[in-house]
Amino acid sequence: MGAKLNITLVLMLLTTIFAIDAKIENDWEFARATNYGGMDGRETMQGACGYGNLTQQGYGLETTALSTALFNDGLTCGACYQIMCKDSKWCLNGTQIHVTATNFCPPNYTKPNENWCNPPLKHFDLSQPMFRKIAVYEAGIVPVAYRRVNCNKQGGLKFEFKGNPNWILVLVYNVGGVGDVEDVKVKGSDTTSWLQMRRNWGQNWETNATLVGQSLSFQVTTSDGKMVQADDVAPASWKFNQTYVCKRQFR
Ligand SMILES: *[C@@H]1O[C@H](CO)[C@@H](O)[C@H](O)[C@H]1NC(C)=O
Ligand SMILES: *[C@@H]1O[C@H](CO)[C@@H](O)[C@H](O)[C@H]1NC(C)=O
Ligand SMILES: *[C@@H]1O[C@H](CO)[C@@H](O)[C@H](O)[C@H]1NC(C)=O
Ligand SMILES: *[C@@H]1O[C@H](CO)[C@@H](O)[C@H](O)[C@H]1NC(C)=O
Ligand SMILES: *[C@@H]1O[C@H](CO)[C@@H](O)[C@H](O)[C@H]1NC(C)=O
Repeated sequence: MGAKLNITLVLMLLTTIFAIDAKIENDWEFARATNYGGMDGRETMQGACGYGNLTQQGYGLETTALSTALFNDGLTCGACYQIMCKDSKWCLNGTQIHVTATNFCPPNYTKPNENWCNPPLKHFDLSQPMFRKIAVYEAGIVPVAYRRVNCNKQGGLKFEFKGNPNWILVLVYNVGGVGDVEDVKVKGSDTTSWLQMRRNWGQNWETNATLVGQSLSFQVTTSDGKMVQADDVAPASWKFNQTYVCKRQFR
């Protein structure tokens, strides 16, 4: 009886340890990678995730576009991946990159071949500088191993306000932790309850609520269920086309 209980306890403990481990160290999966744009990465800016100047926003050139199978209609925007070239003579073996998803690699259903970004294929269209870190440029396309990793961002969450007084669009960026935002709520200083925002495109979240002249707080939830509350991140004098930075961050 006692021995049985001990075994059960040991099994429970092991399960717990491995569950935690699995969460941090996701298994490597297989995909392919190509690259787009020049070495300066200009073509990687203003992509389908709604981010703007990636240099200014802190993502730099360490970015990738995702195929339909990985993009999840934009919900995966902001997620971070560790990628290495695998099993090809073109690989720069022993090197790995760490990139943030900032764009979409669209499918092409009329093209007869080389439709790497069509479903159900998992594909990374990397910025050229990132591709060149893991493979010989001339390869064009290489097989890769990849896994989701923690996003390490400098400073707190950032909120860029766009739109007009009747339709406020907020871009949530510089998100740490798992990186991909799944839900955003807003509350004004004169608003009694948290208001659900709706994802418009990429990581742009919208509301029709009249919030001009109120200081604004946000509740941002990422795909792992963690929530960060940014209290009064925008002062009552907030303006469109401005970015407001919160002190808090996902870890
Ligand atoms: C993006 O921002 C960087 C740094 O502020 C600046 O040097 C660059 O000119 C900007 N790029 C574009 C396309 O506006
Ligand atoms: C990298 O490893 C692959 C086998 O996985 C091998 O075929 C290739 O030659 C290696 N590349 C270099 C540059 O050594
Ligand atoms: C899709 O592929 C066809 C055939 O190669 C090409 O003509 C067309 O421009 C492609 N469409 C896009 C959006 O790239
Ligand atoms: C904003 O208003 C429009 C038109 O009244 C409506 O279709 C839309 O669902 C509203 N959006 C939100 C997020 O409430
Ligand atoms: C915000 O920027 C957009 C695009 O640059 C511009 O069309 C709009 O007039 C600006 N709005 C304000 C309030 O500055």
